[in-house]
Parts: sequence; C-alpha cells; structure tokens
Amino acid sequence: MSQVRTIRGTHDILPGETDRWQFLEKIIYDIGSMFGYQEIRTPIFEETKLFSRSVGEDTDIVSKEMYSWKDRDGTDLTLRPELTAPVVRSFIQHSLGTSAPVQRLYYIGPSFRRERPQKGRQRQFHQFGFEAFGSGNPEQDAEIIAIAWQILSELKLNESTALQLNSIGSKDCRMAYREALKEFIRPNLDQFSEISRKRFNTNPLRIMDTKAAHEKKILEGAPSISEFYTDEDKWHFESVQNFLSVMNIPFSFNPGLVRGLDYYTRTVFEFTSDVLGAQDALLGGGRYDNLVETLGGRYTPGIGFAAGMERFIMVMKESGQKSSESKTFIYFVCSNEEGLPTALALSNELRNAGYSVISDPLRRSMKAQMREANKLNARYALILGNTEIEQNTIQLKDLKIGDQISIAQSDLIHHFQHLTK
Ligand code: HAM
Repeated sequence: MSQVRTIRGTHDILPGETDRWQFLEKIIYDIGSMFGYQEIRTPIFEETKLFSRSVGEDTDIVSKEMYSWKDRDGTDLTLRPELTAPVVRSFIQHSLGTSAPVQRLYYIGPSFRRERPQKGRQRQFHQFGFEAFGSGNPEQDAEIIAIAWQILSELKLNESTALQLNSIGSKDCRMAYREALKEFIRPNLDQFSEISRKRFNTNPLRIMDTKAAHEKKILEGAPSISEFYTDEDKWHFESVQNFLSVMNIPFSFNPGLVRGLDYYTRTVFEFTSDVLGAQDALLGGGRYDNLVETLGGRYTPGIGFAAGMERFIMVMKESGQKSSESKTFIYFVCSNEEGLPTALALSNELRNAGYSVISDPLRRSMKAQMREANKLNARYALILGNTEIEQNTIQLKDLKIGDQISIAQSDLIHHFQHLTK
C-alpha cells in the first residue's frame, strides 16, 4: 500500500523541535501579559467574504492563494490566510470595544496560503500576532513595535534583524496619490502586465508591489506617497519615529514598503532578517484605522503585526540557540512485576509533589533500564529491587555524582525536598 505523507507545503513539527516552539510560545505569552494584552482564539475557517473585503480582492493572497470551497449549504468558506481579519470580525461580533476603550489582543495559530513552497514559505504556517484597538495615536504604534522589539530582544535576535518603517498615509492622502499615480502610469500602461492593468482601474497602489523587473523600472520615477501626506499624516509619522528613537529602537525609513494587504493606513513596518534568504520578512504589520468600519463595525482605529513562527524558529536555530535539554528528573527502575504497584504509586506521589518521573513500560532488565536513564540524562534513578520491595525501602542513585543510598519509601518525598536539581 502506498504510504500517506504530509501535503506539499505542510510540515510535521517533531518532538525534537517542539521544545523550541514551546520556548517561543512562552515568550509570546509572557511579553503579552507584560504589555497587558490578552489572548484571543478564533476559528480556522471563516466566510470567504471576510478576507476579500479586508485583505482585498486585488491582493495576491485573495486572488490566488486562499484555500476556499463551497460548503454543502452553498456558503463560501476559506481557511484563514491571516488572523487580523478574523480578530476584527470577532471584535465587532462580540462588541469588544464597549467593555474598554482600548482592547489589546494577541494570538498564536495556523494560517494557510497556497504559495509556492520554498525556504521560509509553507502552505500551512503559524503566525503569532498582536492587535490593539481604540487608539489612533502614534504612541500606540510605538507600543506595538516595542512589543515586536521586546520579543526579538528576549530571543537575542534584535541585533540580526532590521526594522523598516514607512507611512502610506491616511485615506485622503491615498485618494490624491492614487490619481497622481494613474497619471504617471497612463502613458506607459500598455507595457504593463494584464494583472497590473486590471489593478490600474481597481487599486493602482497595488501596482507598486509588482515583482516584474521592467514594471519596476518604469515605476522608478513614480511620485512618492510622502508628497501627498496631509499635515496630520506628517505629524503622526514624525511622532512614531520620535517615540521609537526615545525607546532606542533602531529603524530605517523605507519609502518602498507598501505591504501586501489592502487594509493599511499610515504606519506600516517589517522586521527582516538576512538569515532568511529570499523570504526575509520575519514579521510585518501596520495601522488599519478603517478596517473595523469596513467590516461593519463602528469606526475604531487599530494597529498590529503578525510574525511567521517557522521563520522565527529558523532564525533561532541559525543563531545557534539550542533547543532546551531533556527535563527528565527521575528515572524509576523497577526490577520485576511484584514491584509495579509500589513503583506506580510512588511515581504518582512524586509527580503530585512536582517532580518529573519516567518509568519503563517494557519490563526490560534493570541493566537496560539504567542505560535508558543515562540516555535520557535523568538526574536521579530510583531503584526498586527484591530487597527493597521486602524492606519497604528504595535505592536512590545520583546519576551525576554516582552516589547511591537506601532510603525508606515513606521518606521519599521528604528526601527529595532536600535535594538540589
Ligand atoms: P503578512 O506580512 O502577510 O501580514 O504576514 C506576516 C508574517 O507571516 C510574515 O512576515 C511572515 O513571517 C509570515 N508568513 C506569511 N506568509 C507565510 C508563508 N507562506 N510561510 C511562512 N510564513 C509566512 C499579515 O498576515 C498581517 N495580518 C499582519 C498584521 C497584523 N497587520 C496588522 N496586524
């Protein structure tokens, strides 16, 4: 029979790697609560229109990368390609904005995009992200970026990553820019691809995101969005930059950074890493002041970011961070079947007292069990042989030092409390 394997672009995360994942997840939880953010979990699939209305019909994500299907009742459904839109949907659906003027949320979970798999790019990948609703002020932008910076610092990755920053202005600014961009492109429109020509009518700003070299060349002399900033846009962007400077968060201004999703306004940013190769974005985000309204809620400004967990893990590995060592503390060696009830009872007692205990379910020889204890790097072995069963004692072997002593079974927990880890 042919063997069933993972689907292209999806990966198993195996036991040797999950330690590193848990380590990263713990940092996300800790830093989340340090900044007063609470976790939100939303379903993995949603109505397709949630993404087409928010991420945008003309984006690569919606136009060609979504896993979508028609449900039996005819509803169009999609595996989430990102989590900002679902979080906004949930924010509106549960009126989260009414319970507090600022809502601070974070998430961890799988996302799906049917892209061409390569290093750092999967079809099922995991994102963690932070979203803050309620404030349009630049200090909120600075806080969101500071969270990303803090996570990178905690992982000692801040030195090897670069923060790129841009502002794509407010709605008014972009309306004026849109017209100017069309004027600029119009004389050469016939040299653009079909998709770019379509975008010319629907969303000309997307053309700036083109990967085609000849289109990039034509666009070199295109007007810059910064020429169209309103006074408030200028003030906002300058304030964000000032706040980052006082927090000692280094950044570089990248006027070409537009991001691949349509919901952004004003601040957009990305952290990139050289380690990642072509897919160098470790984390990306920005402000989305109109998104809650677009999806049917009351006007509520928002800003956030999301990061690719697989890309984080890759950079952590490359930077030489070891996965944590085996945490086995006690290996329980039992010589025969008669000892099993005692072994199971004592193991449970030890676990109830907070110690990690592993035992052998294969009934192997004592020698084989001791070998296993060493292989697992256990700190102590507890040995229950015939004599110990008879005398209600147990041998405790310190596997680091090699000492072995006999203690009363009734004294076991008490004894461990005096031992160092
Ligand atoms: P995004 O830039 O599309 O933004 O994705 C964020 C991050 O997810 C990327 O920087 C990258 O690390 C990771 N990523 C994206 N696609 C893949 C893939 N195919 N394989 C592996 N990793 C991938 C968003 O998703 C926005 N929702 C971010 C945001 C949150 N903006 C505001 N709030």
